[in-house]
Amino acid sequence: MDAVVFVNGTIRPAADAVISVFDHGFLYGEGVYETMRTYERAPFLLDRHLARLRRSAALMRLPLPFSDGEIGGDIERTMAERPDWGECYIRVLVTRGVGDLSYDPSVTPTPSVVIIVKPLVLPPERSFSDGVAVAVVDVRRNHPQALNPLMKSNNLLNNALAAQDAYARGADEALMLNHAGELAEGSQTNVFVVKDGGVWTPPLSAGLLPGITREFVLELAAEAGYPGGERTLTPEDVARADELFLTGTTREITPVARVDGTPVASGRPGRITLALLERFRARVRELAPEPRV
Ligand code: PDD
Repeated sequence: MDAVVFVNGTIRPAADAVISVFDHGFLYGEGVYETMRTYERAPFLLDRHLARLRRSAALMRLPLPFSDGEIGGDIERTMAERPDWGECYIRVLVTRGVGDLSYDPSVTPTPSVVIIVKPLVLPPERSFSDGVAVAVVDVRRNHPQALNPLMKSNNLLNNALAAQDAYARGADEALMLNHAGELAEGSQTNVFVVKDGGVWTPPLSAGLLPGITREFVLELAAEAGYPGGERTLTPEDVARADELFLTGTTREITPVARVDGTPVASGRPGRITLALLERFRARVRELAPEPRV
């Protein structure tokens, strides 16, 4: 595996990046994380990701042992180990830390901090030009009163089971419903429905991750003058959609061509989806540093 990893202050190659089996991230999945990517080697929307990391940590009463400036500097130092890499994938993880087998947080006074930096592997360009296939899976998104999806936690079994169900059915991504049978989100993405010129996505109250790309796309869609916003959506809305797309850090805006084997409208990426993708990429170019020569 090609990666450099910051583990509690020390930067190591992937093979030497280890953490104790008594870390409560390993034992109990107690921790939070962020996935970011760079454009022109600068982490995109870093401030928004760090704000969400803090909100996730607060929801599990996990104190973060760094300022935004400090963790930003640690990310930069880790990336600087490999100036030869182009764009990078960055995953920041903070766990409850190492301690005895107990749920009492007093046994783990020091959180563990890990930053994984890898060369960015993008989805094939045809997933943008042709769209991807999704499956509406049986695994329901966690109930907000059980394990709140607002928290971007390291406890990803719900997401992994949903994704594996989709892969077994030949799809690229799962669409997950909530406990009430309403549309929630993908296993690693948020979902949007385009209908009669409006651009809609389920509300946070449906139980889903407040995606950074979701928020960014809602802003772009409003700027472009499309009606829409947050609305409760059902599997029927998915079946009747004019267009459907996914959003996520590494997938930007990805058109959906098929749901459970059935084409979405014509089965080709929709006009509004592609217009939003173009706007997204134009805004990225405005926000990213000047290209290196
Ligand atoms: N996944 N919903 C879920 C459940 C996710 O895990 C993610 C992100 C998203 C999209 O959020 P954002 O736009 O902030 O990337 C929605 C990341 C990429 C991951 O798990 O690595």
